[in-house]
Amino acid sequence: MTKVVAIVGATGRQGGSVLRTLHASRSYKLRALSRNPNSDTARSIALECPGVEWMQADLNDKASLHRAFTGMDVVFGMTSFLDPELVARIRAGDVDAEFDQGKNIVDAAIAEGVKLLVYSGLDSMERLSGGKYPGAIQFEGKYKTQKYLLDRASRIQGVVIYLATHMQNYIHPRFSRISSVDNQTIEFTFPYHPTAQLPLVDPTTDTGPVVQYILDHPDEFSGAPVEVCGGYYSVADMVNAYVQATGKPARYVQIPFEDVGPDDLVQMFKGISEFGHYDGKGDFVELYKKISHRFTTLAEFWKSSSWTGPVHNKLPPVDQ
Ligand SMILES: NC(=O)c1ccc[n+]([C@@H]2O[C@H](COP(=O)([O-])OP(=O)(O)OC[C@H]3O[C@@H](n4cnc5c(N)ncnc54)[C@H](OP(=O)(O)O)[C@@H]3O)[C@@H](O)[C@H]2O)c1
Repeated sequence: MTKVVAIVGATGRQGGSVLRTLHASRSYKLRALSRNPNSDTARSIALECPGVEWMQADLNDKASLHRAFTGMDVVFGMTSFLDPELVARIRAGDVDAEFDQGKNIVDAAIAEGVKLLVYSGLDSMERLSGGKYPGAIQFEGKYKTQKYLLDRASRIQGVVIYLATHMQNYIHPRFSRISSVDNQTIEFTFPYHPTAQLPLVDPTTDTGPVVQYILDHPDEFSGAPVEVCGGYYSVADMVNAYVQATGKPARYVQIPFEDVGPDDLVQMFKGISEFGHYDGKGDFVELYKKISHRFTTLAEFWKSSSWTGPVHNKLPPVDQ
């Protein structure tokens, strides 16, 4: 019988990729979730992917998740820092705000008899760093959810994916600016050493194929997190790819850690620099040999990007 799948974050990068990939496969019945299924983004994806059921759901509203997961065999779950309620709670010092949303997903999925929950998480930076960086809350909330999910293995199968750094971070206003020296050269600004190798991915193209493989072969997954990673690259590689793809002048400027924002982001960047994004480097390669999907390259990312460059020449104020 055709499996029915609910997708949290269907209007976003990861969930949108899952929705488009599963829709194109024609092997699943799909329910896309959004806080507002009538938004322009939701309507446009609905036109692109006909036959998908759209339903209102909010990760802060348990009852809406129960409704959204009713009758589902599979759930793709994630949390997002684009949620103002989540960000406000975190900025008010509530370090478990994201874990609460994760728990809401897991609890509703179990209560509604969902058989498989694929959850987009992250490793614990506290664990990776041996306790040196306990405050990278974007990592910890997801890791606590992972533990909460996997501790309930007798009631639901959980498979956790770890997305690598999104290529889209390079076009985030916080990490690029126009040089104040010549008012022309684009400066990409991170605190990483220019040659440090970091995992990168385009989540809009590469999340779906990995998740579809998990859905098609659930018995191959037994608890170890699955990396979603297009490869390991340095910031210098990314900037060179930008110059080659666009012909525009650009350079990398390594900024102090303290310039990236609040302490949790500083701890996150320091942790990634010193201890990596997650355990293992390249563990995904064997799995990806089985997945018939070619991951987006840096050149392809820049060529397909409609980004026209930063509009400012200094770091914008912190917004989260
Ligand atoms: N940037 C990176 O390098 C990186 C790397 C690894 C992991 N991550 C993690 O990736 C996550 C973001 O993923 P993304 O980039 O795919 O998301 P995104 O493109 O920012 O989209 C966010 C999605 O979440 C949905 N959403 C937000 N708040 C919600 C709520 N309260 N209830 C239900 N749905 C909600 C939005 O749907 P509606 O607006 O339609 O409701 C939207 O579809 C973050 O948790 C981040 O920590 C990021």
